[in-house]
Amino acid sequence: MTPRIYIPGDSGALALGAEKVAKAIANELAERGIEAKIVRNGSRGAYFLEPMVEVATANGRVAYGPVKPSDVKSLFDSGFLKGGHHKRWLGAPDKIPFLAKQTRLTFARCGINDPLSLDAYKSLGGLKGLQNAVAMAPADIVKQVTESGLRGRGGAGFPTGIKWKTVLDTTSERKYIVCNADEGDSATFADRMIMEGDPFVLIEGMAIAGIATGATKGFVYIRSEYPHAVAVMNKAVEIARKAGVLGVNVLGSPNAFDMEIRVGAGAYVCGEETSLLNSLEGKRGVVRAKPPLPAIQGLFGKPTVINNVISLASVPVIMDKGAAFYKDFGMGRSRGTIPIQIAGNVKQGGLFETAFGLTLGEIVDEIGGGTSTGRPVKAVQVGGPLGAYFPRALFDTPFDYEEFAKRDGLIGHAGITVFDDTADMLKQARFAMEFCAIESCGKCTPCRIGSTRGVETIDRLAAGIEPEKNLALVTDLCNTMKFGSLCALGGFTPYPVMSSITHFPEDFKPAPARVAAE
Ligand SMILES: Cc1cc2nc3c(=O)[nH]c(=O)nc-3n(C[C@H](O)[C@H](O)[C@H](O)COP(=O)(O)O)c2cc1C
Ligand code: SF4
Repeated sequence: MTPRIYIPGDSGALALGAEKVAKAIANELAERGIEAKIVRNGSRGAYFLEPMVEVATANGRVAYGPVKPSDVKSLFDSGFLKGGHHKRWLGAPDKIPFLAKQTRLTFARCGINDPLSLDAYKSLGGLKGLQNAVAMAPADIVKQVTESGLRGRGGAGFPTGIKWKTVLDTTSERKYIVCNADEGDSATFADRMIMEGDPFVLIEGMAIAGIATGATKGFVYIRSEYPHAVAVMNKAVEIARKAGVLGVNVLGSPNAFDMEIRVGAGAYVCGEETSLLNSLEGKRGVVRAKPPLPAIQGLFGKPTVINNVISLASVPVIMDKGAAFYKDFGMGRSRGTIPIQIAGNVKQGGLFETAFGLTLGEIVDEIGGGTSTGRPVKAVQVGGPLGAYFPRALFDTPFDYEEFAKRDGLIGHAGITVFDDTADMLKQARFAMEFCAIESCGKCTPCRIGSTRGVETIDRLAAGIEPEKNLALVTDLCNTMKFGSLCALGGFTPYPVMSSITHFPEDFKPAPARVAAE
């Protein structure tokens, strides 16, 4: 049997040197006259082990990582094509603790095979959900998705089934499915990983959404910073079309559904759904007032489902294994699994899919292994740049939409950024206001003007000018932004600011006292 070597082509792995490793392995094979097949898979998401190279042996896959080009000769000398021992040896990939502890439903196939092999996708259960869907009435598909408890993974946590029902119930000669792949939140990469590592699951999810709501056309809006994801998705759509997964007769059924990939132009606010729709229509990315809801008047004024990549990519497993199976995972009103993306100053960064309910402490200390600097964790920002900073005192908070809201936080797109005790939370609060000022679409005053005034006021605090007065001013400003902004960019910027002030008051002391304390 020709040996098979798996080297990730995922952009996270490429950033860590996977291309150089692939070249070194190809050269070594040629030099030694060994015939082997190199498969470029996606990433399994254990980024602290990337580039993670795997070989298929008679006893299953064996992983090595993180592999450097300088390791390649010794890997061959150690007989790695047969799973031989080496300092980079990790054993069977699914036994690596970071991967073994996960519950992979949405990411079940991600990183295992060539992402563009439809046969490999099918061999691991792909297309079963769509096959079930084409045999069902649209209302029954919507019912399954509603009963699964799936909520939007883009940030707001809105029930996916209810959104779909609104589109299904709205009569129109044309409807659309729009996939939000703008993924602008700091520390998030789940959308990118699925698009690069298992693109057919997103295509399958979008086709199911189309059949469920009566939409025949879909668009994936991908951020311009994701050229690899754009390339993989474009190829995957072409393959799916040729194979009859997309087209006028989806899987041979009377249902039509096709889709296109569109590239964004680098604005955070274009991740906000109405701004995204404007951008997709070729207009400036400015937020639209709601109502009308996009579900009733969305893209080109037509009823539109707009969902995050992970929301859509979670639908195939629901339609394959049933709503009850999916709903069985999780806690409270947070059902199913969530791909938590662990980043920042952390030892074991990567994607960890698990049922809702793990505590923040378990995620940071046990899964993430604490900080990469080895210093104590000071704060963790959960939910991207608009998420709150949690101190260690709140590490018992379970990963659950309502539990985070109770503590003035949010899960968002489930990205977490870890900071050690050298972080200055006043600087982080300033950064939040500055980020809002830079990214504001400018439509409403609390966000457009408030964020700039926020930066100035925090600067005065840092300089020790009238600290009590300026602290009260920032708090007042945050209240105005929270309750007076049109969208969550202005409305949620107060979360990182106020959580910094509330949980780390020592960082907001007047400048001389801050210097003395250091
Ligand atoms: C400023 C801002 C940026 C956003 N960025 C994203 C994004 O990058 N990706 C995303 O899926 N949702 C983003 N959202 C949320 C979307 O507006 C919307 O809620 C989401 O696409 C709905 O899909 P879901 O129900 O599947 O989560 C953003 C919201 C705001 C206010
Ligand atoms: S809150 Fe900011 S980004 Fe949102 S509509 Fe207002 S100005 Fe635009």
